[in-house]
This record gives sequence, structure tokens and C-alpha cells, in this order.
Amino acid sequence: MQTYEQLKGGEGDLVHYRPERFAAKDLFQQGVPDITLGGQPLVLQDVSIGGIGAVDHCRRDDSRDWSRRIGERVPVRLSVRGEVIHASMAEIRHCTVSAGRATIGMRLVDRHLDMTGLVEKYWESVLRGDLAFHSAPDMHLVAPEYRRLVSDTVALLRHTRRTLARMEEKIDTSGPNHQQITQRMLEFCEEQVVPRWRELWLEANAMLWPLMDDPARLRATKKFTEEVLTPELVGGPIWHRGYDKPFGYPGDFLLMQQIYDNKWEGTGAYNQICHRLGVFIGEFVANRMLMMKDEIADCVFDKNGEDTTHITSLGSGPAQEVQSYLDALSLPGSTRFTLIDQDRRALDLAHTESRRRVLQHGGRARVDCLWTSFMQLLRPGAFLEQMPAQDLIYSVGLIDYLTDRRTSQLIERLYKHLTPGGRLVLGNVKRSAEASLWPLEFIADWSLIYRSEEDMARLAATVPDAKREVFSDETNCVVVMRLTKPAA
Ligand SMILES: C[S@@+](CC[C@H](N)C(=O)[O-])C[C@H]1O[C@@H](n2cnc3c(N)ncnc32)[C@H](O)[C@@H]1O
Repeated sequence: MQTYEQLKGGEGDLVHYRPERFAAKDLFQQGVPDITLGGQPLVLQDVSIGGIGAVDHCRRDDSRDWSRRIGERVPVRLSVRGEVIHASMAEIRHCTVSAGRATIGMRLVDRHLDMTGLVEKYWESVLRGDLAFHSAPDMHLVAPEYRRLVSDTVALLRHTRRTLARMEEKIDTSGPNHQQITQRMLEFCEEQVVPRWRELWLEANAMLWPLMDDPARLRATKKFTEEVLTPELVGGPIWHRGYDKPFGYPGDFLLMQQIYDNKWEGTGAYNQICHRLGVFIGEFVANRMLMMKDEIADCVFDKNGEDTTHITSLGSGPAQEVQSYLDALSLPGSTRFTLIDQDRRALDLAHTESRRRVLQHGGRARVDCLWTSFMQLLRPGAFLEQMPAQDLIYSVGLIDYLTDRRTSQLIERLYKHLTPGGRLVLGNVKRSAEASLWPLEFIADWSLIYRSEEDMARLAATVPDAKREVFSDETNCVVVMRLTKPAA
């Protein structure tokens, strides 16, 4: 118990009371409402009882120069799927511009925001929109030939499900050979389904690439796919993980491991087949892993057993290529690996798996793990600068999520950290007819930045003095850049 004299208020700047601000993405979990300010669309950032914060990403149009409009009163509207959930007048109070975007603060002058009422209206509009799905106008944006393709795919999957259910009914589970018979039937089923699945996948890709630059059609087509096709597949463990993203980010190490394990997983025959269809899509992941294993082997070989070879993997995940490299009976040279990942659980797995293998090689191999994000790593004075120069730095499955700007920064910094003759190898999902576009972006809502060889060549030009190579893998799903620093 405190006496009245001991009770405290705020300190420092907090003395000046301001009503609580709520981040829009926390308050509106099914997507933030659309906002217009003076009729101009912005992106809603936060709301409080008396004000709104929003961002304008496009500052080319002069009428949008918000910093010159401070003090002006303009109408502001929040709406969800076309339904207005708040309309009032707002005074533009401040505007800060950085990195090509304007952040605008406004104060409501004729109405306040009743948070509870606003959230209730929001959910009502969201639900109304969901209930009206089949008559929603965006359905018209889904091409009829794509609807036909999705319906063919659903027919294939349902036929498979029914047939496998009949098989499960007929096979006597108490019989001595029931497991072998089931496995044989599943393998037969896989042989039948995979070629048709691949045809549909390539056909879908051809229809979907043009949509990637058409946001409204893209949104509608993704939504349609997730409503109609995704539920047919998510019983397969790899689809479930890919779609659900249980660690809060796509492509976690357990999903990578499902691809590398290449097993039959799932409850019941049909879900196992679905799992296999997902693993089949991940073939390029297994392939690029083997390419990285070859990069490691080449790098150690070129060192000719003289000094220790220093190798770093950024966004290492389970570092399967390192495990696979260490599976060799003997190593041609002493090697020190540094595995970097933001997920400690990935490093736990990578460390446990490499430990046993490292012991087998006596002192010829060492694996260190750094639990850090590449952003932290690149900061001045951070780990990268404390590490010895590296003979090979590679990263696969990371820059697919990074903008060109961020990737160029990464290339520049990592390249500086190579030894003379050292290599920087970066893999990216390829923009190609065979890409994982349909299954990942549309079925599993897993967005990646697909790049062509030309895109990668442009990024490689970040370091003009390097020997620059850009090539694709044999699945044509991966494009790789290899930058070699001139020898001293
Ligand atoms: C798609 S997985 C690829 C893993 C591995 N390279 C492979 O191919 O098996 C991407 C990995 O990048 C890691 N990652 C994501 N963001 C990162 C960041 N900011 N810094 C470091 N690692 C990151 C994830 O934790 C994940 O393990």
C-alpha cells in the first residue's frame, strides 16, 4: 500500500498526456481499412480517439505534397470493402518524409473515434464482405480459364481422395502384409497423379505470371484459389505448414526439413499423397542444396589443403548441405563453417546434426552458429566485422524475400568480407515457366520475389570488379549468382 504522497504520475515527456494510439495492423486483423485523405488513398498506420496516422508511398504528384498542406482541413474516410466505417474532417498536423514515403499525422476536428464502435463496424463490414463472397465483384476478375483449371485440379484431388478411401476400406488392416500393400498402392497412386499435377501447375503458371503486375486480379485470383483449392490440400503436413506459417514467417527450417527428408507423412492415405505433391514442388530446394554442397566442395578443393577454409551460410536453416558435405568419410582440408540464422530453433537443429559429424572428422571441421539477423550482422561494428574474411559466403532461400535495394546492400557488404579469390554465391527463385509460383503464391499464400537471370545480373553489377557469373539450375526454378573476388 502506498500513501497518496508516494503515488506518481508520468515522468519526462510522458507528463504530457496523450490518448493511447493503436497500431492499425493490431486492431484490424483481417487487413487494415482503406483510408482516403482529401480523396487521396493512403495506408492507415494508427488510430487514437482524436487522431489518425497514415503513410503515402507516392510523392510524385505535387498535389500530394502534404508538408505544404499542414494546417489544412480535409475530409478523411475509413472504409472496408467499400463500406465507410468512419467519415469526418481532419486537420493535417505534421508530415515527415523519409525513404520515399510521407508519414502524415492528422487530428480529427468534428468527430472523435469511438474505438469499440469502430472495431465493431469493421468486423461487421468484414463479415458482410465474406458472406457476400460468391457475389462479390472481384470474382469477375478471376479468369474463366483459371476457374476451369482449378476445377480440374479439385476433380483430380477428389477422385484421388475417394479412390484411396475405398482402398483403405478394402485392405484388411489386421492382415500381415497390410502396410506393404498400402505403401505399394500409395506409390502407384503417386506415379499416376504427379504427371497430371505437374501439367496443371505449368498451365497455371502460364496464366498467372501476367497477373503479378495487376494487383486487383492478383488479389481476386489468390482469394479464389485459397477458398476453392487450398482446403483440398492442407491436410498434407507440408501444405499445412506452408499455409499456416506457425512460426510467424514462411519457409521455416522444419518445412525445409520436410523437403529434404522426402518422406511419406500425414494421417491417412490421401493426406500422404497431398504431402508428396508438396514435396515434389520442393524438388528445386533439394537441388539448390546439392548445388551449395558442390560450392563448398569446390571451395575447399581450390584451397588445396593449405589453410583452413572459412565458409559462411546466411539464413542457414538446417544447413543440410553442410551436413551432407560432412557425411564424407574424409575431408580434403580443414574447414570452419559459420551458420547464421534468426531462428534459434533452426540453429539448434543445425548444431545437433553437425556435432556428431564434426566429431567424426577429428579437428578438420568446425561449425559455429550465430543467432542473429542479417540486418544486425551488417550494422557497423557488428559480428561480420569481427569475423575473419571468408572464402565462401552463400545464401539460398533468403534474398527471395528481399527488395533489390536491400539485396544490393547485402551483396556489397558481404563481398567486402571475402578473401582475395573468395566467392559470394546467392540463389533466388527464378521467374520461369517451371517456377513454384502457382503452388506457393496462390495455393499456400507464400509470397516470394522471383527473379530472372537478367535481374540477377543487374544485382551482380553492384560489385563491378568481381568476376560475375549468373546461371540457372536444372529444374529452371533457381537462378544463382556467383561473384568471385580477384586474387591478390
Ligand atoms: C527458406 S529458409 C532457407 C534455409 C536454408 N538456406 C535452406 O535452403 O534450407 C530461410 C531461412 O532464413 C532465415 N531468415 C529469415 N530472415 C532472416 C534474417 N533477417 N536474418 C537471418 N536469417 C533469416 C529463416 O529463419 C530460415 O531459416
